[in-house]
Amino acid sequence: MLAPVAPGMERMRSIMEAQVRSDAAAVQAMTAHVGSFRGKQLRAALVLLVGKAVQARDDEHPEVAAIVELIHLATLVHDDVLDGARVRRRVACVNERWDNQIAVLLGDFLYARAFHLSTTLRSRLASQLLADTTAVLCTGEIEQAALRRDFELTQAKYEDIAAKKTGSLYSAACELGARHPSEDREDPRVARLGVEMAAFGREVGLAFQIVDDCLDVVGEEEVVGKSVGNDVEDGKLTLPVLHAFARADAATRDRMRAIYAPNAAGAATGAPRRIELLRECCDLSAGVEQAMARAHELVANARARLAPLPASPAREALDAIALFTLERRF
Ligand code: FPP
Ligand code: MG
Repeated sequence: MLAPVAPGMERMRSIMEAQVRSDAAAVQAMTAHVGSFRGKQLRAALVLLVGKAVQARDDEHPEVAAIVELIHLATLVHDDVLDGARVRRRVACVNERWDNQIAVLLGDFLYARAFHLSTTLRSRLASQLLADTTAVLCTGEIEQAALRRDFELTQAKYEDIAAKKTGSLYSAACELGARHPSEDREDPRVARLGVEMAAFGREVGLAFQIVDDCLDVVGEEEVVGKSVGNDVEDGKLTLPVLHAFARADAATRDRMRAIYAPNAAGAATGAPRRIELLRECCDLSAGVEQAMARAHELVANARARLAPLPASPAREALDAIALFTLERRF
């Protein structure tokens, strides 16, 4: 999938490594650790692939891709603290390998390095867009935390939150691939491409989050490569669960509410985790099927946005990434 941008990805990785290098041995050990859970680096690839697909002037795209990936890493390190997660990409989370204090500070360090790198670019577009995106992403996380255990959550509000916390960075990656480094007097063709590619990223990102939320309820930790059942444990209501709730009878709904109640089941040592109770209590597979249908719809919309671009290996790869979000099991 990433073959059309392999040299750019290599360059992006060496820029990232140089950016997080530190004289402090403790920091060096931690950045090496997060390097080992680098994962698919899809957001970085999107910057480079969109740049290629729209035939942008792309000499600084590896830098932009490195900034996007550093911000993504920072958010994951912080997210694992918020979620109390133990494993990510088959490797111990920073909060598990060290502790919460270290993880908060390391996330700040990574974000600061991204911020610094953005000041070295020839235009302010990336720093402006990514600063706004980080604020949107935090807004999504805050709204999600505020609405924990609220079974009144609608599909529209769920999608709004998922678009903010996940869709926003995908969207910014694609928009920057299309637009960087243009700033003030932008060519209208480039501006139009920016809007279309931003929408492509938002839809793919939203689909990715829906699939992620399905894997959290029906996936297995060994296959997914990270802790599962965490959303239920944290009281986060996700699309598959909202659909299962909507289908349930009154008694089942009461049991579901009780499972999500703070300090209910799962609190005592040896008690089953909430996810086990939820799996027994309601029809999660029907909820997952309905949520996956929505993810398919989003991916179809996203793919249609690629059609006007000239045929190229980069456009094919974007199409494959959109499809991959539906098929991934990890
Ligand atoms: C993963 O969601 C997390 C996000 C998409 C964003 C998290 C963002 C923050 C915690 C804000 C960080 C702010 C700064 C400035 C660095 P998830 O928990 O649903 O997915 P997961 O299963 O991969 O953990
Ligand atoms: Mg998480």
